[in-house]
Amino acid sequence: MNEPPRLPGGGFGVWSRDRLALARRGAEECGDVWQLEPGVYVTATAGPCEEVLHRAQDFPKPPSPLFPPLKRSSGAVPPEERAHAHAARMRGLRPQAVAARIGEIASGTARFADQWPTGQDVEVLPPVRHALAEIGVRYLFSEDAPTLLPFASQLFLAREVVVRPSRWVWPRWVPTPARRFRTRQQVAFTDALRSVVRRRRSSGHLGDDVLGQMLRPSSRYGLLPEEAVFDSLPGITVATFETPSRAAGWILLHLARYPRAAARVAAEAAVLPVDPAETTNAHFDGLRYTQALVREVLRLHPPSWLLTRRATRRTQLADYTIDAGSTVLVCPYTAQRDAREHSEPDRFQPERWLDDAGSPAKPGVFLSFGTGPHGCEGAALAMAVLTLLTAQTARRYDVSEPPGPEPSYRLTTFGGLTPVGLRLRATSRG
Ligand code: HEM
Repeated sequence: MNEPPRLPGGGFGVWSRDRLALARRGAEECGDVWQLEPGVYVTATAGPCEEVLHRAQDFPKPPSPLFPPLKRSSGAVPPEERAHAHAARMRGLRPQAVAARIGEIASGTARFADQWPTGQDVEVLPPVRHALAEIGVRYLFSEDAPTLLPFASQLFLAREVVVRPSRWVWPRWVPTPARRFRTRQQVAFTDALRSVVRRRRSSGHLGDDVLGQMLRPSSRYGLLPEEAVFDSLPGITVATFETPSRAAGWILLHLARYPRAAARVAAEAAVLPVDPAETTNAHFDGLRYTQALVREVLRLHPPSWLLTRRATRRTQLADYTIDAGSTVLVCPYTAQRDAREHSEPDRFQPERWLDDAGSPAKPGVFLSFGTGPHGCEGAALAMAVLTLLTAQTARRYDVSEPPGPEPSYRLTTFGGLTPVGLRLRATSRG
């Protein structure tokens, strides 16, 4: 049996001290696939990462432990129902659906930019998260958003408490205080949502938002069981603002560190309408450099830098044999910093995503939204929100880093890469 090479001096002890550094060393010293511990492998480069994510039968995604279905004690959702729920959500989240609501999204991101207090150092992640929660919850639930937003904020808090890294991971069935808190918040959110669904059904107006799409029967699957609506929406609701706010933090930091790039974004954003509600898809498509900048920040700092899979059977991966039951950690972070994929991979260079002269003909791998059957459902929404937020912020302000300690980063248990201590200052552009 040909096992992936073991990284000398690696192992969980070193991993828990500095996971990003060890991931980089593993990629440099061992190549495509390497072994962290017996039965735990890391795919470090584009080919094997994409292969694992596409071969969902051999490497299924473990069920999300965060908001487990409330009513099903096994936690298992039948595959047919999962496919149905996915299809229903995607009717509201696919690129055409996002495009149809671009003016509304632009109004939400403009509110964030307008409210940023100028001339003072601001810890930006909390207001960013608040603004993106308003946008995300409104995108899912339209006029019912004000009812559901406070419950969504509590869900976020519950998530933070549950994923806080700790030395000891309790088995799933142990009702720790954090898990009891999470369940209470999940029940409260679901109860509020149930009232909204009842009212929509009894009024005969299901709505055109994501919830409305989930309540409509589809020609292929019929009506989605109501429990499936309630089971999937807590996770989706938090997803609309949790990962995007991490991404927005990294983007704002880059606006501060690369003033010439920020000026180019500002110039591009100058054509956006004064009333953000009038923003059209033509305006959005015109923000080519801004979209490239967002993509480049996501390449360098994938907010989900590590994705987990488990091998169901003994199988081949790249040139190696992987045993059934092994854990496979897919690492977009190293795959996107591979010099064979991207020239000068550690350099911030948004132009690499444009078709300008001098940029590569074929852009390299981009796995920040995952790929394959479990690829990100909200990629189009996230790109729209982040691009407009970036454009409207750079159009109004010069963003700078105050003197003092540099922001650092934090890695969360579920592969999250988030900036920490991010204080920025906005000065109105002259
Ligand atoms: C910058 C923002 C975002 C990033 C970087 C991101 C990243 C990702 C990644 C890497 C995955 C794949 C996980 C895996 O394969 O294990 C994923 C899945 C997912 N994302 Fe996002 N995401 C973002 C925003 C959003 C938004 C706005 C939504 C809102 C609906 C969303 C909903 C989801 C869902 C539902 C899945 C699970 C898909 C499945 O398991 O089949 N994401 N996301």
